[in-house]
Amino acid sequence: MLNDIKDVLIDEKTLKKRVSELGKELAEEYKGKNPLVICVLKGSVLFMSDLVQSMDIPLEIDFMAISSYGTGTRSSGEVRILKDLDKSVEGRDLLIIEDIVDSGLTLSYLIKIFKDRNTNSIKVCSLLDKPERRISEVEIDFVGFAVPDEFVVGYGLDFAEKYRNLPFIGVLKEEVYV
Ligand code: PRP
Ligand code: MN
Ligand code: MG
Repeated sequence: MLNDIKDVLIDEKTLKKRVSELGKELAEEYKGKNPLVICVLKGSVLFMSDLVQSMDIPLEIDFMAISSYGTGTRSSGEVRILKDLDKSVEGRDLLIIEDIVDSGLTLSYLIKIFKDRNTNSIKVCSLLDKPERRISEVEIDFVGFAVPDEFVVGYGLDFAEKYRNLPFIGVLKEEVYV
């Protein structure tokens, strides 16, 4: 698996440190609010797990599974709900957790559906932001790192479902995906 990685973009130590900083920042923001922290499967599962352990406040977690149509390395923006949240979000403060915002299409879609559900607030925390690829302008309230337009994998991010278990963010060798 490591043979397929060209560079380590964000090493494990840097990653863990930033995630813990973000968690503390979020804990301040959401003190007394019992936020509903939403993990967007599958990419954000590792990030979310680490993040909430640095948030020393009462909170709840839930999972949303969505699928974007189409295959390959780019998302199509057409999104389908595979698993919705378990409970009503009416009046709740939602914190959507993403691993990466690329075109922004997934996130725009999610925000759109949650806006129709009478929440108290909706904010977004993404570990990675790849601004060069944006198609849909979305506001990301909390960002871990900005990344260049390269094919990144690891710490939840996959290529064809692989590499999610790498403990760092790496750049995939081109010959792996072309
Ligand atoms: C990836 C990533 C984000 C989304 C970002 O998910 O985890 O959710 O794409 O791309 P966008 O900004 O262009 O919409 P993916 O659809 O690959 O599913 P996964 O999380 O299960 O890997
Ligand atoms: Mn995803
Ligand atoms: Mg994916």
